[in-house]
Amino acid sequence: MPEINRRTLLMGSTGAVGLLALGGLAGCSGTGSTVSATSEAVRRAEARRRKPSQNVVNALLTAQATTLSLGGLVVQTWGYGDSLPGPLIRAQAGDLLRVRVDNKLSTSTSVHWHGIALRNDMDGVPGITQDPIDPGSGFTYEFTAPDPGTYFYHPHSGVQLDRGLYGVLVIDDPTEPGNYDEEWIVVLDDWVDGTGRTPDDVLEKLLSTSGPADDSDGMGGMDHGSMGGMGGMGSMSESMRSPLLGGAGDIDYPHYLVNGRTPGAPATLTAKPGQRVRIRVINAGSDTAFRLALGGHQMTVTHSDGFPVEPVDTDALLIGMGERYDVVVTLGDGAFPLVASAEGKKGQGMAVVRTGTGRTPAADVQPAELNGRILLSTDMTAAPDARLPDRQVDRSHTLGLGGTMTPYKWTINGKTFADAEPLPVAQGERVRLRFYNMSMMFHPMHVHGHTFGLVSGGARKDTVIVRPMQMVEVDLDADNPGQWAAHCHNIYHAEGGMMTTLSYEH
Ligand code: C2O
Ligand code: CU
Repeated sequence: MPEINRRTLLMGSTGAVGLLALGGLAGCSGTGSTVSATSEAVRRAEARRRKPSQNVVNALLTAQATTLSLGGLVVQTWGYGDSLPGPLIRAQAGDLLRVRVDNKLSTSTSVHWHGIALRNDMDGVPGITQDPIDPGSGFTYEFTAPDPGTYFYHPHSGVQLDRGLYGVLVIDDPTEPGNYDEEWIVVLDDWVDGTGRTPDDVLEKLLSTSGPADDSDGMGGMDHGSMGGMGGMGSMSESMRSPLLGGAGDIDYPHYLVNGRTPGAPATLTAKPGQRVRIRVINAGSDTAFRLALGGHQMTVTHSDGFPVEPVDTDALLIGMGERYDVVVTLGDGAFPLVASAEGKKGQGMAVVRTGTGRTPAADVQPAELNGRILLSTDMTAAPDARLPDRQVDRSHTLGLGGTMTPYKWTINGKTFADAEPLPVAQGERVRLRFYNMSMMFHPMHVHGHTFGLVSGGARKDTVIVRPMQMVEVDLDADNPGQWAAHCHNIYHAEGGMMTTLSYEH
């Protein structure tokens, strides 16, 4: 099977030439010289995080072909071991993680620790921070995880995330009181692999589209997204639109999963009536935002992308790809659907919350809460200790987000990744990023190695939904030297070019 890896194609032969050559390549723009992943500054930043008697958490991930039962559906796919999601990795803030990755796939891979402000050379981005992990070989990631929160890990290689290659990383806060009785981890995903198409097939189809989209393979029409001065939607169908997000995606998935299960054979989460449960929710989807609601309950959102927010009650929560939320719920008595509705698409994932007797909810149940108050991260306020200190902005960058469906191309400031202008920053600066979405589709924008605060005291995050024709401004402190990917977490958009680097310069 030919591997379509846009990034590899774009990078040309650099994979073979190696990282040092790449560092030179990246260094040709901007004024200073770039701080590469292998630089002394990166080592020093990590040394400052280390503690003399640091606890070490060891883990092993085996990336391999596997057969998974998703509940009424058996698929050939790639995963970490034989489970979906992959193994839960759990540590305390300040611990050293040492994770061995063995690549038993037929192609190269990598592992990225999404949301962790870690040392740059362990960030897991082939072509920027490391060489790809070749088939039959391995790599040991070793880094301090400084901040508590809900994170996840996934490859940064092509569209491998859209297979079964993802798992949850929880960093506990040893000082948190933890005002809850139970904790559940809930992972949302959109699923196509092993249903007659692989994610690489889907990407290849998108990239090869050169005229009006045809719908012959059931991909549901190349709805939405294009804009480029052409105005209207032309022949594009209106099948994937959301009142909240505009163009809601490029791929009409056959299945949506919660904790690796279809809604027809759902995972069950159990507790006692009246208990308070903390639910850590991760959207590991590649092209789907989810609207999450628990039938018969309000949710109190306590954390966004690992960082505390002022607690806020809601009926439903909109979660973009790569975003995580922690919510607390006080449970009623019975069996309740925890529904993750594919925003702007047809279908949903579901898990069952069971505290007593009662019929298991139907796979297509639509709790009223889905259409109640729907919260987005832009509606939240950072808790006081998650707020960035007040200070002057030293440098601003605007990221104009655009794209077209034909050809399938997504851009930052008019350029696809290989040609993208890096965003220069210098250690110690307060940097403002302005994500300005000039397309008709939403983009969950993610920055590696840092968390940003939405301006004016908004939530502290690493991934933020930017809605069509909207601007979202965020501030970050440039305190983690290196070369950091900044991209749309729609994995097909990232592969279609919507990526650049936050580039430290000396
Ligand atoms: Cu989960 Cu570069 O991202
Ligand atoms: Cu996007």
